Amino acid sequence: MKRIGILTSGGDAPGMNAAIRAVTRTALYKGMEVVGIRRGYNGLLHGDTFEMNARSVSSIIQRGGTLLYTARCPEFKEEAGVLKGVEACHELGIEGLVVVGGDGSYRGAGDLSRHGIACVGLPGTIDNDISSTDFTIGYDTAMNTVMELVDKLRDTSHSHDRCSVVEVMGRGAGYIAVNTGVACGAVEVLCPEKEFDIEKIVEKMQASRKIGKQNFIIIVAEGVAMQAPNYSADLAKFIEAKTGIESRATVLGHVQRGGSPTVRDRVLASQMGNYAVNLLEQGIGNRVVGIRGTKLVDYDIQEALQMKKPFDDDLYEMNRQISI
Ligand code: ADP
Ligand code: F6P
Repeated sequence: MKRIGILTSGGDAPGMNAAIRAVTRTALYKGMEVVGIRRGYNGLLHGDTFEMNARSVSSIIQRGGTLLYTARCPEFKEEAGVLKGVEACHELGIEGLVVVGGDGSYRGAGDLSRHGIACVGLPGTIDNDISSTDFTIGYDTAMNTVMELVDKLRDTSHSHDRCSVVEVMGRGAGYIAVNTGVACGAVEVLCPEKEFDIEKIVEKMQASRKIGKQNFIIIVAEGVAMQAPNYSADLAKFIEAKTGIESRATVLGHVQRGGSPTVRDRVLASQMGNYAVNLLEQGIGNRVVGIRGTKLVDYDIQEALQMKKPFDDDLYEMNRQISI
């Protein structure tokens, strides 16, 4: 393969830049040409592309966001859009494409692969909700961001003897919630994978107060909060009314998507980017890259999309035991 493209798609994630850098530099090292495609599949459909060289990716490894910009492209969900994308690849002389994004982006990559464009997907999302990998690019950074912010909230809730209800991202998944809940000493984690009873949480808080616990952190996953508007604010009001403990809600929002990637995300993204180009070099497409334990792996895109990701019930239960 002599010429490949790269794009980032869906929500951005810290570490995408490190992946772009690794893909570009590995390809150049192997004598390939690299085309940068801006704003996801939109750039492919509308000719927003540029030739990349080693300096195109200088000084980006430490930056959050994505040098290539990202977007959602509804047009690409239709067969006509996919065919236009195939045509664009032919015009650009691109034989292979690396797509960094989530499940939706993988579907687009699968569609292009079906039409003969060798695509390799890299898991880029803070949510860690991609079943074909233990860890996604951006997840570790987002969790560290949440931890720092909740630590700050704890300073003020400690000073006021309050309860902080903190809503974290994750779309339909509670991976960020449960892990940051453990890391921040949350008294309870509300996540979509687990049933919970608010009355029992209130009872637990009251029991903990009796044995001297003065401040409380409750982590609410976005997947739970999306059940109702103002879910976290209403939960804080409910807790205050039931327990008499002053409560405040904070929705962390998009700040969780930004910032300089952690070591883990930079290394993971670099390894995965390098691995993707190695596949393309061998003419292998229709694959997604993941990590299992410490080993990089790749799967057929359609098989990957069918996989289910387990939730760490033990971690969740452990948190309940130690957060009294
Ligand atoms: P993510 O990749 O983070 O899951 P989205 O679901 O928003 O994010 O998908 C990103 C983009 O991938 C979409 O805007 C669209 O261009 C493309 N995409 C999503 N679903 C499909 C699909 N079923 N077929 C083809 N392309 C898709
Ligand atoms: O997938 C990443 C994510 O930040 C989710 O956690 C969240 O549900 C969603 O994207 C938010 O999307 P948007 O940037 O379109 O508001």
